[in-house]
Amino acid sequence: MHDEPHAATTDTARADVLLEAMRQRMSAGGIEDPAADAELILGHVLGESRGRVQALAVMREEIPAPLAGAAVELTEERARRVPLQHLMGRAPFRSLELAVGPGVFVPRPETEIVAQFAIDALQQVPDPEPIAVDLCTGSGALALALAHEVPQARVWAVEMSREAIAWAERNVAEWGDGRVSLVRGDVTALEAIAELAPLAGRVHVLVSNPPYVPSGMVPRDPEVREHDPQLALYGGADGLDIVRSISRSARDLVAPGGAIVLEHAETQGRAIRELLSADGWRAAATHPDLTGRDRATTALR
Ligand SMILES: C[S@@+](CC[C@H](N)C(=O)[O-])C[C@H]1O[C@@H](n2cnc3c(N)ncnc32)[C@H](O)[C@@H]1O
Repeated sequence: MHDEPHAATTDTARADVLLEAMRQRMSAGGIEDPAADAELILGHVLGESRGRVQALAVMREEIPAPLAGAAVELTEERARRVPLQHLMGRAPFRSLELAVGPGVFVPRPETEIVAQFAIDALQQVPDPEPIAVDLCTGSGALALALAHEVPQARVWAVEMSREAIAWAERNVAEWGDGRVSLVRGDVTALEAIAELAPLAGRVHVLVSNPPYVPSGMVPRDPEVREHDPQLALYGGADGLDIVRSISRSARDLVAPGGAIVLEHAETQGRAIRELLSADGWRAAATHPDLTGRDRATTALR
């Protein structure tokens, strides 16, 4: 008997050896935290938590070959920079697990902070059934977080992309609790969206994480550049085309005293405060995220 590590027998692979091989493959592909991704992928394949996977590695448990093979296949895709969330089919967002995949923007941790501003504003509304609107909803992340965390709220979510809205529909069915209405439409022509007409002047909080990358600034990470939809990323020459449009047209939707909450790039805070103020919004203020970067601007109607 000897206890040399082995990648696989014919019918099993030892968990710690398998994880190390996965880590090395993804490290070679330039993945930032390949050990974490290896544990998450194996956990996904086994239907186990990351903690349980770590325990399996410590105990040198054997993994059945078909499952090890599935983990290796996903590892190859991840090493080719397919987003981890696409491979797992899920993305965490605040307390939710959203369905994601090709055709929809993967919700990001920085947007969780944007959600907090909108949730705080919505919770302060004295109305027993406050109304929120999420423009450019993508997977439905912001709309669903608002509905989930402000249980008396009604939320409308607008998205233009047919592919993205298919993902949002799944997520609304799973997490919407009957209080999220999904509307297909172009936020640069809000007045043409019939479903929003009854909300004119009644919206307490309008939130948006719109496309805001300047068209000349191609993202460095292949996960973003090659897998997030172009429509989700680019916002014209200075990135602010959609923001300008929202600032103007959202005025008619938001109630006096209501709030607008916008995510943006860290260099865009000042320009957004100026354009909001020029459109008549009051008290425009930009807020740093947990890393000190200006990523959200709020204002009042
Ligand atoms: C940056 S993604 C944000 C998605 C989601 N709100 C989130 O935070 O994860 C921007 C979204 O805006 C959508 N979009 C872009 N232009 C739009 C337009 N003119 N009208 C409606 N939706 C639009 C894109 O399809 C994409 O889903």
